[in-house]
Amino acid sequence: MSNANGTMNLTLKVWRQPNAQTAGKFVTYKAENISPDMSFLEMLDVVNESLIHGKQDPIHFDHDCREGICGMCSLYINGRPHGPKRAITTCQLHMRSFSDGETITIEPWRATAFPVIKDLAVDRSAFDRIQQTGGYISVNTGGVPDANEIAIPKVIADEAFNSATCIGCGACVAACKNASAMLFVSAKINQLALLPQGQPERYRRVQSMVAKMDEEGFGNCTNTGACEAECPKEITLTNIAHMNYDFFSAKLFREEEVHEVQHGA
Ligand code: SF4
Ligand code: FES
Repeated sequence: MSNANGTMNLTLKVWRQPNAQTAGKFVTYKAENISPDMSFLEMLDVVNESLIHGKQDPIHFDHDCREGICGMCSLYINGRPHGPKRAITTCQLHMRSFSDGETITIEPWRATAFPVIKDLAVDRSAFDRIQQTGGYISVNTGGVPDANEIAIPKVIADEAFNSATCIGCGACVAACKNASAMLFVSAKINQLALLPQGQPERYRRVQSMVAKMDEEGFGNCTNTGACEAECPKEITLTNIAHMNYDFFSAKLFREEEVHEVQHGA
């Protein structure tokens, strides 16, 4: 809530770190005359403008679309990825969610597999490398079919669509005490595993993407559910269950047998 002037004065404790090799520390800044209608990133823009005017190094943070669709923004705000509101990204968070006079602590995603680039910006290219090992369809799926030519039950289409809404922000990793990437990886696997076009590479895909996830240094899932609670796109733990089912099926049977066992072909 704002003060009598309709603005807010805040104290920010911001993590500043020159690079992954150098120790970081919290630095305190004042953010004054902030409109409650500003987004959290606009508030940081205002702070950065005053730092630049004072010939100080601005705070580095990731952002791009500022509409909740690109997955670039990535701040740990008062101990929670993307801040206190459910199912939104940092760029969709408004200052009216905070109170005049409040102290706000801002940190980067913390995970070994996401090394700090500078300040609040971390390197999430491990996600890209996992995607490159199988998060696509390489078989020839032919030309664009007419609408409804491939009949897919609505419940399946909806589930695939829900998995596909993952924006790759990494909040699930930041929220997890094990820094597990299983929610992200399972969403990327499930969006393809549920659809006909994803079937030919289904079992190779799950094995290679899980192997790469482990190689990149992400932790394991212990079913705590912090990832699901903090995911801005409300990706569910069901994705992890589907991924584990496909992974163990692929390990237990030869690839051609998996289809027979699961589908009775
Ligand atoms: S599963 Fe959710 S929290 Fe994890 S990367 Fe995707 S959108 Fe972000
Ligand atoms: S800046 Fe694109 S999702 Fe936040």
